[in-house]
Amino acid sequence: MTDVIEYSKQGAIGVITIKNPPANALSFAVTKGIDDALAGCLADDDITAIVVTGAGRMFVAGADIREFSMTRPDDVPELPDVIDHLESSPKPIVAAMNGLALGGGMELAMGCHYRLAAPTVSIGQPEVKLGLIPGAGGTQRLPRLIGVEAALDAIVGGDPISAKKALELGALDEIVEGDLVARAIEFASTGPAPRPTGEINDRLGASDAAVFEAYRKKIARSARGMKAPYVCIDTVEIATKFPIAEGLKKERVLFEERRASDESSAMRYMFFAEREAAKIPDVPRDTQPYDVKKAAVIGSGLMGGGIAMNFANAGIPVTILDISEDALAAGLEKIKGNYAGSVSRGRFSQDEMDKRMALIQGESSYDKLADADIVIEAVFEKMELKKEIFAELDKVCKPDAVLASNTSSLDINEIASATSRPAQVCGTHFFSPANVMKLMENVRADETSNETIATIMGLSKKLNKVGVLVGVGDGFVGNRMLHVAARVADFMIEEGAMPWDVDRAIYDFGFPMGPFAMNDLAGIDVRHFIRQAQASLYPGRRQSLVLDRVHALGRYGQKTNAGWYKYEPGSRTPTPDPEIEALIKNVSAEAGIERRDFTDDEIRERYLVAIINQGAHVLDEGLALRASDIDVVWHYGYGFPRYHGGPMFYADTLGLGKVLAKVQELEKDYGDWLKPAECLKRLAAEGKGFKDL
Ligand code: 3HC
Repeated sequence: MTDVIEYSKQGAIGVITIKNPPANALSFAVTKGIDDALAGCLADDDITAIVVTGAGRMFVAGADIREFSMTRPDDVPELPDVIDHLESSPKPIVAAMNGLALGGGMELAMGCHYRLAAPTVSIGQPEVKLGLIPGAGGTQRLPRLIGVEAALDAIVGGDPISAKKALELGALDEIVEGDLVARAIEFASTGPAPRPTGEINDRLGASDAAVFEAYRKKIARSARGMKAPYVCIDTVEIATKFPIAEGLKKERVLFEERRASDESSAMRYMFFAEREAAKIPDVPRDTQPYDVKKAAVIGSGLMGGGIAMNFANAGIPVTILDISEDALAAGLEKIKGNYAGSVSRGRFSQDEMDKRMALIQGESSYDKLADADIVIEAVFEKMELKKEIFAELDKVCKPDAVLASNTSSLDINEIASATSRPAQVCGTHFFSPANVMKLMENVRADETSNETIATIMGLSKKLNKVGVLVGVGDGFVGNRMLHVAARVADFMIEEGAMPWDVDRAIYDFGFPMGPFAMNDLAGIDVRHFIRQAQASLYPGRRQSLVLDRVHALGRYGQKTNAGWYKYEPGSRTPTPDPEIEALIKNVSAEAGIERRDFTDDEIRERYLVAIINQGAHVLDEGLALRASDIDVVWHYGYGFPRYHGGPMFYADTLGLGKVLAKVQELEKDYGDWLKPAECLKRLAAEGKGFKDL
């Protein structure tokens, strides 16, 4: 009928098939196509009932997110109106849900009178993850279908619900094991009465304000800094208080407000940034990756153990190699403890834990790695040690095995030079704790082949991680930027702020924690070590005086119950420590620095601007492929709040002229290691943003 809608008559049943690969998103063309097809069915006296289905692996994954910032053409009806037309059809309409039904897709299905689904279907209202609320009736119809509490969970949480669960809840009428469309046609042919979802009122329950208030309290932590989750609750509450027509009107107004919000544009940007990161311009999409059926990890420490868990979680057998039997036993015990914790929290069953543990094998001899398809080295950050290991791996591993280093800063070219297969050597920088954090900085060295890149980028997806390809350079992308910002934070405490002032300002911006609390978590000894290694790399940089003093006291952070903060034994709650306050004031006095007040805004500005400028340097040096990749790194590696869209997106919202002026102030105060990046200067002069690169 159109490019995106197929229409066929099966006897007296009109079958409307949405064909807009890959996600069958409800673009303007699809929305109009459905409406036109429906009008055709209603006008055709031979048609007694209608089936709506999707082609391919999805029913409909929602409204077309790309079109949210476009103007709707005049001849295209609004999606809520199309859904109203379906719901008010005098001929029964059956949704044959062949795959995912998300957002507008689920709303479309709820506009239909009956919902039959394939067993593999998931349904959901994930709009909240885009800073939105469901905007085509979802907030009003879903609670009518499945009750208020289940609807709150679905709409505020945004996670998909399996077909089985959706059937139990009442969102589906039937799960069809065989030919779905045939069964939907058969069902439609029985002449079921039209059953508008908006008229179902018996599942809504009483409009008890306490339920909503309790829900608002429940999400206070997870929704910190965001508005959308609260508006989701408000709209479900509206469903309990107003007739459907009024509720739908209110939902539409609130949806439009959300659509125009900075929160939503940042989160929509991040949706596409994440997908863009998977695309490597000079690596053709059809590049054949190596098959990863078996993996190995060198080193059974915290990182090695966490990395191995990722493989086991993905069902890939993994060998952990450690030449120390004791370290190996301790590492395996730690993994077991981690899994046991998940079982006791009800995240998965004992059975599942046993399955995962059975995939992990401990070994102490390199000979056992001959059949590994990929080996990830995760030992201490010492170049000589790593080169020895890679030389050994090169000898024992099969010729087409990929050899990766989990270094957070070392030169992969040098590591690759220890092997005879530099094309198959790369970096895979996991973030700690590696079994939890989603980011992998995948490092391409000079000779890394396309096949190796395709393998590690694909591996990231298999391990349920977000892989970002970066180049070789000190600290790659994330840590390079963090180290500069952390120094600026160090100087602010020498000049007048306290660590808890800095941390409060950064936490309030939306980070999970500030730089000093993070330093206590990661270890002050580790940072001290990195800084010493960097001293020769950046000879002109002003050095933090306080850090050395805290380190010299043996205050390494949480592991010693004392760092920038103090900690009760066994507790991770940082408490400001008068001893640190006195120490900082002494250091300032000794250095002749006159302490002054910092407002939270100034702290935030200095810290963020240092991050942004270093991100721009990273782009100048080609360490990141695009500005949006940096944003993905900062969200998944460091908890940059998604609703601000990452540092480079945030910089664009501030305006690069303003950012440049602030960077110049920092340079004046701290020296030329904070000089503005070339691309920042150029874009600011042209009145452009990083999005224009
Ligand atoms: N709009 C536009 N493009 C979409 C899309 C959507 N709703 N959903 C997916 N796509 C695109 C992706 O951008 C990607 O494009 P690319 O190949 O050019 O990069 C392609 O479809 C495939 O997507 P994925 O790579 O993400 O494929 P997966 O199989 O890993 O995941 C998915 C599929 C679970 C559907 C995932 O894409 C997803 O979560 N999509 C968004 C779902 C969503 O948020 N829906 C609600 C939209 S808002 C809405 O409906 C408002 C309404 O209430 C009015």
